[in-house]
Amino acid sequence: MQHPSYLTSMIENAKRAMENAYAPYSHFCVGCCLRTERGQLFAGSNVENSAYPSSQCAEASAIGAMITSGERKITDLVVMTHAGGFGSPCGNCRQRINEFATPETCIYIFTPEKHLQRFHFSELLPYAFRSSE
Ligand code: THU
Repeated sequence: MQHPSYLTSMIENAKRAMENAYAPYSHFCVGCCLRTERGQLFAGSNVENSAYPSSQCAEASAIGAMITSGERKITDLVVMTHAGGFGSPCGNCRQRINEFATPETCIYIFTPEKHLQRFHFSELLPYAFRSSE
C-alpha cells in the first residue's frame, strides 16, 4: 500500500503520545496523531481518571489540541496501541472525529511493530448523525 510521506512523522508522534498516556486503571495506552488540511499535526494520549467515566480517549485529546490551535479539518488520523490491541476508534470517538472529518479522511491503525489497517472514515461511521441537512 502507498503511504503518504507525512505518515512517518504521524506514526512517531502517535507512538510518543502512546508512551505518555496516563492509563493506570486499564493499563491500555493509546496514542493518536491527526493531520489537518493545512498539514499540521496534533497528538493526544488517553487520560484516565479514578472516576472511570471521566477518562478521556486519545482521539479526544488530539482533537482538543487541534481545536485549541484554530484548525478544523482532519485529513488523516493515526491510532497507536501496543501489540495485541486494535486501536480502531471507539463509537464515541467516531462521532467526535465525524465532526471534523470528511468521508475520505484516512484512519490508520498501528502498533509500534505493525501497520494493522487503513480505513476511509466513511467505512467506520456510515450514516453518521447530523442535526441538520
Ligand atoms: N481508548 C482510547 O483512547 N481510544 C479509543 O478509541 C478507545 C479506548 C482508551 C480509553 C481507556 O483509557 C483505554 O483506552 C481502555 O479502554
